[in-house]
Amino acid sequence: MSNTGKAIAILGAKGGVGTTTIAVNLAAELASNTDKTVLLLDLNLFLGDVALHIGIDATPTVMQCIHDPKQDIKISALPRHRLGFSLLGQAADLSDAEAVEASDVLALLNRLRSVFDCIVIDCGTDLNEVSLTACAYADDRMIVVTEQRPALIGAKRRMDVLASLNIPGETALGLINRAHADSSISPTAVQQAIGLTIIARVRNAWTENQEALAKQLTLKEHCPHAGVAHDYTQIVRHMGY
Ligand SMILES: Nc1ncnc2c1ncn2[C@@H]1O[C@H](COP(=O)(O)OP(=O)(O)OP(=O)(O)O)[C@@H](O)[C@H]1O
Ligand SMILES: [Mg+2]
Repeated sequence: MSNTGKAIAILGAKGGVGTTTIAVNLAAELASNTDKTVLLLDLNLFLGDVALHIGIDATPTVMQCIHDPKQDIKISALPRHRLGFSLLGQAADLSDAEAVEASDVLALLNRLRSVFDCIVIDCGTDLNEVSLTACAYADDRMIVVTEQRPALIGAKRRMDVLASLNIPGETALGLINRAHADSSISPTAVQQAIGLTIIARVRNAWTENQEALAKQLTLKEHCPHAGVAHDYTQIVRHMGY
């Protein structure tokens, strides 16, 4: 059993930029194209909707695991997606919502890391104790941004806050989501403007994403040969996961 699993925190530069979509499809890609054990973790307390994106009734939930810190986490006891990744999500009805402290998040991540090779964390958009703890803990932080100015400003704010945490290594890497082929905003321009290194562009693909969401499928299942699905393959390749 490995105790050195890699944690990848996905943080949105702004609400609705596609943070959950990126986290879900990245986990699907990792589970399909690597031999790693993968967990998709919804830390967007208490409003996370990862479970809704993929149609899995998420029990046990993140909160149930936090409440039961002595309980061993076994892969076989967690909900599993048909592509092979496991899920730890949020209760749909907020029934177990309760304040969570940084120490709870750290303890949970340490337990999970001893079981999974790869943990993809949907940190949501807010900068709070939970999301910042997860970002500081993670090996890689990816800020999801779009080409619109409010999202770019949101990314800069988040970069500044993350930088103030003095995390060793790269503060964060950037993913441009809903990228348009004819956009005048290049990764180099984003890098120069806000100091965020863009590692990949996920193309704008409204129809594919809406159809997949409606059927609660990942892009890999719904449209495996579409360009947007290939964009996720490129992220995993680029990062060497
Ligand atoms: N590359 C893309 N092209 C087109 N539409 C996309 C793309 N990525 C995500 N979307 C769509 O954008 C919408 C918002 O996506 P998502 O729920 O992942 O955003 P979010 O940032 O997690 O939102 P929230 O702030 O509510 O957590 C969804 O309808 C999703 O299908
Ligand atoms: Mg979301």
